[in-house]
Amino acid sequence: MTNISSDKRPAHIAIIMDGNGRWATSRGLPRTEGHKAGADTVLRVLDYCLKYDIHYLTLYAFSTENWKRSPTEVAALMKLLSDFLDAQGAKLHQHKVRLCVIGDLERLPAPAQTRLRKQIDESAKYTDHVLTLALSYGGRAEIVQAAQKLAAEVAAGTIRPQDITEDSFANHLQTAGIPDPDLIIRTAGEQRLSNFLLWQASYAEFWFTPVLWPDFDETTFQEALENFSQRQRRYGKA
Ligand code: FPP
Repeated sequence: MTNISSDKRPAHIAIIMDGNGRWATSRGLPRTEGHKAGADTVLRVLDYCLKYDIHYLTLYAFSTENWKRSPTEVAALMKLLSDFLDAQGAKLHQHKVRLCVIGDLERLPAPAQTRLRKQIDESAKYTDHVLTLALSYGGRAEIVQAAQKLAAEVAAGTIRPQDITEDSFANHLQTAGIPDPDLIIRTAGEQRLSNFLLWQASYAEFWFTPVLWPDFDETTFQEALENFSQRQRRYGKA
């Protein structure tokens, strides 16, 4: 257990899980094997969050742009997601983890949708730990959708344009009710946001590591926590 005090620990970690493909290719394996190993890492990281009492974990599992990958790779990722829920659903309940999804759930294949909806409904009662999967997710699309909902309310006369505030806007995002991430981690050496949590990332701390997602282990996780605990968060204040 880390000796970082709870006020220096992030309440919400969001992760851009990158490097599955490179991990597999460097071993002469098909890319899908990298995703399989990546799904194992998801499970480990969930354990670390329970162990270190991180209340919110958000994972960028499939972006809107990921639909452009080969049909074989997309199908393998969707199957992995269904398999993950079949195999780990009970564990999520055991640890009272609430599952949330952000993104366009309707676009996912029916078997994945069914499993996700079931797990979301059955875990809605839990409050201590929240696992949010970003699936068919894009930050800009999410912001546009929120703007459309507010515009519809203005058109219907239920609110006035000047009633729109940062808080009311945030409440129309898919992450409504989930606090903004304190720490955003991206693996595999890239240093960009790739359309992830664009609104919510406003005051997040970023931590980048060259470690490929399948190799992400407890030592790497602790390193991220240590690094975060030393940041001075000023939110624009002097
Ligand atoms: C990025 O690696 C990873 C993804 C696009 C998918 C992430 C999916 C998983 C970790 C597994 C399934 C998830 C769950 C929740 C069970 P990449 O393929 O872009 O790697 P590369 O940049 O090295 O090619």
